[in-house]
Amino acid sequence: MKGVILAGGKGTRLLPLTSIVNKHLLPVGKYPMIMYGIERLRQAGVTEIMLIIGKQSAGLYTDLLGSGSRYGVELTYRIQEEAGGIAEALMLAKNFFKPREQLVVLLGDNLFTDDLLPVIQRFQKQPAGSARVLLKEVEDARRYGVPVFRSDNPHKIERIEEKPRHPQSSYCVTGIYLYDTSVFQLIQQVKPSARGELEITDVNNRYAADNRLEYDVLQGYWSDAGTFESLSEAGGHMVNRQI
Ligand code: G1P
Repeated sequence: MKGVILAGGKGTRLLPLTSIVNKHLLPVGKYPMIMYGIERLRQAGVTEIMLIIGKQSAGLYTDLLGSGSRYGVELTYRIQEEAGGIAEALMLAKNFFKPREQLVVLLGDNLFTDDLLPVIQRFQKQPAGSARVLLKEVEDARRYGVPVFRSDNPHKIERIEEKPRHPQSSYCVTGIYLYDTSVFQLIQQVKPSARGELEITDVNNRYAADNRLEYDVLQGYWSDAGTFESLSEAGGHMVNRQI
């Protein structure tokens, strides 16, 4: 199992902070944001990691992380020239994998405390060509991708609605996804959304339509630190965490 952390994007909701440094290098507690995802993967035994970054701050990533050896991981960097959506960014990792290999994908602004190892172990028992997402119960699901559960089998997701006005559940789909290399074929089938991006929700919905999407619910802390409120809240929560 290898990891991919998506850490590009413009971080427009955090301007002007993100006009000088990429969002994923902003401080959260004692560390730059990106280090928490790396630590969660390493802790679960996923040590070969590709970081997808933008041109902005590319040198700062290597200053901070280098080869990754100081943090017990082996890093490969890939540059996303223009922000074009999560699925487009993930596509850049295609050649990092051999056919049928499995991958865990993290959005670099998703901060969480759950252990990924049991999730990975459950995913490894799923059939080839399936996927697994992690959910979290949230107060305002309208900000996120929201799962609609199958009425005949609540352990399966029927579909995901991206930022719905009327969420059909109180869960959000977090930015933690497990796939095998079938994901790269599916990304090629999705079309840009109204906001001109290749949406990871459209990719996940292809798995859901085929009844190949399973899930776990995060039990510990989770936040997506993409807004000023969530960034400062996450900083307060993570301040005593050691990496
Ligand atoms: C993205 C996904 C959304 C997911 C969220 C989690 O949204 O599109 O489905 O719930 O990440 O962080 P974004 O924050 O890019 O708008």
